[in-house]
Amino acid sequence: MSQEALENLLHENRVFPPTAEFAAQANATGAMYDEAAQDRLGFWAEQARYLSWATDFTEVLDWSDAPFAKWFADGRLNVAYNCVDRHVDNGFGNQVAIRFEGEPGDRRDITYAELKDEVCKAANALTELGVTAGDRVAIYMPMIPEAIVAMLACARIGAAHSVVFAGFSAEALRSRIDDAQAVLVITADGQNRRGSAMALKPAVDEAVAETPSVRNVLVVRRTGSDVAWNADRDIWWHEFVEQQSTEHEPEAFDAEHPLFILYTSGTTGKPKGILHTSGGYLTQAAFTHRNVFDLKPDEDVYWCTADIGWVTGHSYIVYGPLANRVTQVVYEGTPDTPNKDRWWDIIERHKVTLFYTAPTAIRTFMKWGDELPKSHDLSSLRLLGSVGEPINPEAWMWYREVIGGDNCPIVDTWWQTETGAIMISPLPGVTGCKPGSAMGALPGIGMAVVDDHATPVGNGGGGYLVLTEPWPSMLRGIWGDPERFKETYWSRFPGMYFAGDGAKLDDDGAIWLLGRVDDVMNVSGHRISTTEVESALVSHEAVAEAAVVGAADETTGQGIVAFVILRGGLPEETAKGEQLVQDLRNHVAHEIGPIAKPRQIMVVPELPKTRSGKIMRRLLRDVAEHRDMGDVTTLADPTVMNLIATGLETSSGED
Ligand code: WT7
Repeated sequence: MSQEALENLLHENRVFPPTAEFAAQANATGAMYDEAAQDRLGFWAEQARYLSWATDFTEVLDWSDAPFAKWFADGRLNVAYNCVDRHVDNGFGNQVAIRFEGEPGDRRDITYAELKDEVCKAANALTELGVTAGDRVAIYMPMIPEAIVAMLACARIGAAHSVVFAGFSAEALRSRIDDAQAVLVITADGQNRRGSAMALKPAVDEAVAETPSVRNVLVVRRTGSDVAWNADRDIWWHEFVEQQSTEHEPEAFDAEHPLFILYTSGTTGKPKGILHTSGGYLTQAAFTHRNVFDLKPDEDVYWCTADIGWVTGHSYIVYGPLANRVTQVVYEGTPDTPNKDRWWDIIERHKVTLFYTAPTAIRTFMKWGDELPKSHDLSSLRLLGSVGEPINPEAWMWYREVIGGDNCPIVDTWWQTETGAIMISPLPGVTGCKPGSAMGALPGIGMAVVDDHATPVGNGGGGYLVLTEPWPSMLRGIWGDPERFKETYWSRFPGMYFAGDGAKLDDDGAIWLLGRVDDVMNVSGHRISTTEVESALVSHEAVAEAAVVGAADETTGQGIVAFVILRGGLPEETAKGEQLVQDLRNHVAHEIGPIAKPRQIMVVPELPKTRSGKIMRRLLRDVAEHRDMGDVTTLADPTVMNLIATGLETSSGED
């Protein structure tokens, strides 16, 4: 972010206080902050009691083996029972849980009673396939109800799911299956994207050819496309799951029983398997969903546009909302199919009241013009949420005025795959909102902005965002790598969790997130590590060396810009050079997934390195963002930057 933009931000003086009308009916209260400040553990114990425990807990937090936390450790519960059965037991079996809308226009309402039957059948199917508590199951699925059923079925039998975003490549899927040693993969023949059927099963076939831990592949028929079939391994969901009994006794598991692993990018090439467990995770996911989104289960229609492949889909489509007995929209496809007003059409038809999406989407809609949302009745909306990256004040104001009709609180929610649930956000009805600010830590959360010496900076200061107290939905580790867990999050500032984000506090103490301070990029709200993309590039035969940076991008937050040194130099013919650059971009998309496709590839003769050989990404970012290069005296060869600046004009690969 430029200095000027930052200064504007910090002098943001528009504040939207809660309206009296919203405050009068809000779930959250100002007293929550005081209660949690006086007795943090008592506050979380109270929130945990919103769940149904098979065995009550006596201890709230065990931090004796820090940073490995245990929350509610002697309590036992079944997460799927909490998300489904208990609502049926309480007389809400006929309430619609999921209002599914497929991209081609097919619709399906699923009540809690029906969801219970589906989850029980799937749980019986998994058991028949030999999946037992403690096993791992990989899920590689489109946004269809079966994906949610699959996750809940795993939770019900105590198997940890590892959902892999269906946009990831076969190789990304393979490495994740392998790391977790998954015994089963649940997938679909394909998914509907932008009006056509996109295959999924071939990527699974390619991945499991090299993962001996996988015994079976369970396949939902979604698009009806032809698929290759391995009769010893592959099973159709509609044949095998559908014939199962709807009776299944939910077994209670320890609060610290693993619920899921979700892989996320760090600063090295190898994604980290973030481990979440049951009782604490569900407590905070449900608490935040109830209070940050002000959910009224009898009245609201909630819609979170995330994909279950990301943590937002886990915490704010599956676990938090269902634990709170939500009625929610689930949409399979892209926002521009069949037309660019698909989302507004969905909001109007389903009378969505609570809407949660990402800044990238909001900025895209701004570009598409006000007419599209304005041609729909969006007056059902009463609260808007944002997640995934900093939201710029212009986008925030547009969201408020054009989508929210000037009438909805906006909750800008900061959190991470690792935090499991929202940590920083306004509480609607209690906290005022400033356009672009996530405002402050939620009740029960310890947060600070510190300098290099771990000293809090105070209002008006900037530094690193840290979490100062353990929280219920915190990650319990990195799958198979406890040392990396300590090193990554707990070593920079002893006793504090370092989030990897920079932040500033304004004069009122409101927080402004400034993006990552490490080698992690944020593209459309998705984390991609620079090293991951570099590894993908150098795996191409033509590439000798690569350096990747995230450059500011108007729509996606950051765009991926790669600098590559070619083994044989650039081909003489321009057309061949351009073709090679396209090939490299496609190669990265193939290795990792289309979200990692570089926006631009620059072929360069050299890369700027420090004397110790570390690539100076800051300089490359300056080039990528067309800024002056500033001080280059720490470079091993300061003339390199001139070489780069002159060499790069030829080789942009932008679409
Ligand atoms: C990173 C976490 C949390 C679900 C989606 C992303 C950035 C997230 C915000 C926000 C500014 C945000 C941070 C964070 N981020 N929300 N409201 N304002 N930045 O999950 O892939 O684990 O990424 O996303 O940089 O560290 P994730």
